Amino acid sequence: MGNLKSVALTLLLSVSILHLPFAKSVWFLNYHIHITNDLPLLNSPPGKPNLFLRCKSKDKDIGDKAMVKGQDYTWDTKINALQTTLFFCNARWEGRKRRIFDAFVANRDDKRCLEYHGSCMWSVREDGIYFSRNNVTWFNEYPW
Ligand SMILES: *[C@@H]1O[C@H](CO)[C@@H](O)[C@H](O)[C@H]1NC(C)=O
Repeated sequence: MGNLKSVALTLLLSVSILHLPFAKSVWFLNYHIHITNDLPLLNSPPGKPNLFLRCKSKDKDIGDKAMVKGQDYTWDTKINALQTTLFFCNARWEGRKRRIFDAFVANRDDKRCLEYHGSCMWSVREDGIYFSRNNVTWFNEYPW
């Protein structure tokens, strides 16, 4: 009887402990962020990088990358316990545009990036930086 009670209590405890984070976001999952250079070449030669990206969080720097057309900038992240994970990027289209955008924000992206295997997909284009939750439809979330 005592044994059954402790089993029941353990079960109840683990269910509630496991359940808490589920309610807000899926903290143990790995998210993949993809940023693709889909800029038009215009006058620049195909082999020459025309997009310069650097993404970082408060404590992690993904690094600088000079990107040619079609190239990807990717990294993975989990959501921290406080659900404050935030990665921002500085994008520079050589000689034309630049802007800062948020590539991953825990409470904005935790659900929408789950739709496509935990991928947050960004595409840098002539008129701005587009997001897709399914790799089919794209929205210009950060116009230049
Ligand atoms: C999105 O689709 C493109 C074109 O079909 C493909 O090359 C790319 O790998 C896909 N992205 C992801 C993250 O699966």
